[in-house]
Amino acid sequence: METILVTGGCGYIGSHTCVSLLENNYNVLIVDSLINSSEDTFDKIKKTIALKGLKLNVKIQFIQGDLRNKLWLDNIFNDYLKANKPIKSVIHFAGLKSIYDSIISPIEYWESNILSSISLILTMKKYQCYRLIFSSSASVYAANGMKLLKEIDIVKPVTPYGKTKLCIEEMLNDLYLSNTDWKIASLRYFNPIGSHDLGLLPENSKGKSGNLFPAILKTIKGNQKRLLIFGKDWPTYDGTCIRDFIHVMDLAEAHIAALKFLMDNRPQNIALNIGTGKGTSVLEIIKTFQEVNGICFPYHFVDRRMGDQPFLVADNKVALSLLDWLPRRNIIDMCTDSVKNLI
Ligand SMILES: NC(=O)c1ccc[n+]([C@@H]2O[C@H](COP(=O)([O-])OP(=O)(O)OC[C@H]3O[C@@H](n4cnc5c(N)ncnc54)[C@H](O)[C@@H]3O)[C@@H](O)[C@H]2O)c1
Repeated sequence: METILVTGGCGYIGSHTCVSLLENNYNVLIVDSLINSSEDTFDKIKKTIALKGLKLNVKIQFIQGDLRNKLWLDNIFNDYLKANKPIKSVIHFAGLKSIYDSIISPIEYWESNILSSISLILTMKKYQCYRLIFSSSASVYAANGMKLLKEIDIVKPVTPYGKTKLCIEEMLNDLYLSNTDWKIASLRYFNPIGSHDLGLLPENSKGKSGNLFPAILKTIKGNQKRLLIFGKDWPTYDGTCIRDFIHVMDLAEAHIAALKFLMDNRPQNIALNIGTGKGTSVLEIIKTFQEVNGICFPYHFVDRRMGDQPFLVADNKVALSLLDWLPRRNIIDMCTDSVKNLI
């Protein structure tokens, strides 16, 4: 079976996707600098597969390094080529992801996200590895009132993080125009939460992630006094932001479907929204989390945060029509699966 190179595979979404790849009989090669993850995750991916009672007929390997190191990356592609197992597909998760850190340290974000992507793409090009799935984000879109976001809507990110995502998408557009052998899918994720139901793969950012569930878990563990909710005066039904929360395993499975789509279809460059198409307010999900898990924690409203928008919900029709994929897990699954990490 083919080996899929997974950049950032020790991270939150990458590790869940590696589980799905292995379940689908792909060999997995993870490259990760561990700047926002730990090597433990590699063992936990293997343990998750073992606990599911699945026998691994495929291989998983981890090599630590930074994508910006072109020589190192070149050696990896070359070693695989020499072993007669050329790398043909890449899922590119690696990148810095905190919207708020990106506002504080924009140049570090540009440097890391752009240079690592350029290094990867140049190496792929050299080795004629033309299949790429790129982790893009809903943050590329301009605010669109309370309408579902479609892929054809205006893109105008407001944060340095979102701008790096759009910039990489644009590089990929130019790349495809220059050589139509490429098969590229930029997946625009909405709000992934939850974790694998065996509880070994929590969202474990080293720095401040700014995401809701890590903050909830931190509050429950007593690592922060209370959960902060940014704004209670947004123009929504309860004054808090509305998001399209998607279970991370549904998101992981979307990668398998996108990979299969690219393998089975003509070369192309597409951007796809990966969300559920349903909006839930931040307050609503906090209340659901407390209710279904029987856990109470204090929360507190503070001012709106820079870069937030009141309503970010996907129109996911294009992904549903092109991919053999459907988000299967609901808000309750997202809430209950995420506390399994605490047990
Ligand atoms: N989590 C979200 O809410 C979300 C939403 C939309 C898009 N995304 C994007 O999806 C991707 C994965 O997100 P995540 O939540 O799993 O993030 P994560 O931080 O958990 O995982 C990213 C991984 O990439 C690694 N990495 C970063 N820079 C690297 C480099 N230069 N070389 C090698 N490895 C490097 C990190 O160590 C980490 O393990 C990111 O590109 C992120 O921007 C995430």
